[in-house]
Amino acid sequence: MGIARDVLNGTRCERSVRFAVEKIRQDFPVLSSSVHDKPLVYLDNAATSQKPRAVIEAEALFYSRNCSNIHRGVHELSERATKCYEDSRTKVQQFLNARESREIIFVRGTTEAINLVSNTFGRKQVGAGDEVLITAMEHHSNIVPWQILCEEKGARLRVAPVNDRGEIVFEEFEKLLGARTRFVALVHVSNVLGTINPVREMIEAAHRRNVPVLLDGAQAAPHLKVDVQALDCDFYAFSGHKLYGPTGVGVLYGKAGLLEAMPPYQGGGDMIRSVTFEKTLYNTLPYKFEAGTPNIAGSIGLGAAVDYVNEIGLESIRAYEDELLAYGTRALEEIPGLRIIGTAREKAGVISFVIEGIHPHDVGTVLDQEGIAVRTGHHCAQPLMERFKVPATTRASLAFYNTAGEIDTLAAGIRKVKDLLG
Ligand code: ALA
Repeated sequence: MGIARDVLNGTRCERSVRFAVEKIRQDFPVLSSSVHDKPLVYLDNAATSQKPRAVIEAEALFYSRNCSNIHRGVHELSERATKCYEDSRTKVQQFLNARESREIIFVRGTTEAINLVSNTFGRKQVGAGDEVLITAMEHHSNIVPWQILCEEKGARLRVAPVNDRGEIVFEEFEKLLGARTRFVALVHVSNVLGTINPVREMIEAAHRRNVPVLLDGAQAAPHLKVDVQALDCDFYAFSGHKLYGPTGVGVLYGKAGLLEAMPPYQGGGDMIRSVTFEKTLYNTLPYKFEAGTPNIAGSIGLGAAVDYVNEIGLESIRAYEDELLAYGTRALEEIPGLRIIGTAREKAGVISFVIEGIHPHDVGTVLDQEGIAVRTGHHCAQPLMERFKVPATTRASLAFYNTAGEIDTLAAGIRKVKDLLG
């Protein structure tokens, strides 16, 4: 029996959304483990999510039965490996609703995808006196590559502000789209605030001025249905490991016309058509951007993760996670002295908070003793911490396998932190 049918039939009601969460949890071996003799409560999904058996087994199957390099051998194993790898590309293409599979480039993760674009497209697109526009809620991986580019080119990095709720001030964003803006790099869902940005409107505003847009989808792809054609983004980046897939693999989507015109990112095997000492001709898409032996097993594991998520369905995932977020927000708001950072009207399952008089690292350490995994720190978004005038936050980030019971455990854990340290 497939998971999708269980979701539909609702073998268990978790609050008002019919979602087979207990059955789903059984697919994730680690979720039934203990930490410090307490049942694990894993609420650090924005950092990396746990892996279902289907993903673990897909990787293991590759290594135990089909291990070989791709695109190189005429032998059976190489053909099998190549087929599995390319099947994964097609699965990702369908997952993002990209027009063509050659628009899907396998990379190490979101960070590498953004660096690829800044180093190739960015280098051609941006010159002295030009501007690159980002927002105040970007992850370092969508700040630093553009900063490096701007320093190299003598260009200027502009930053659209966020309001006190953690939403982009759209009018300010529009105003910053000026005659010198050559590129917009924008986070789809904030890893700190959970804000879901109005990216469709922002892309339209940029395109009205012929400015191409990259979306950092690291925190969006696991939670929202992404349709790159409907969004009309020029580039979209996400990481496999946050989408219940393996670490070390991610995706860059790019419109074929743009990718065609871009110079290669790295030189090496597989990205060439022919090489002489005088001149190298590059391979066609997507191979032009996949130099060297890629993360074959990881890409195949990512394909399995996409299958798994599709089987549950992103609509069901979104509805369930929204309920959980609302429940968690209410539970934490009731705790005196706790302040949630990030109260946007459109939010995905992230709850960042500070507690008066207690450092987030101490909060995280006490919660860990209760078996609760959260992230503390600046979450690779130091400018955003400065914006909210906090040195760090504690962040609980949700996945579809979390439960209301786990939220109750978190709230009880926070009350214990306050009793001990408050
Ligand atoms: N970017 C990941 C996070 O927000 C690692 O935790």
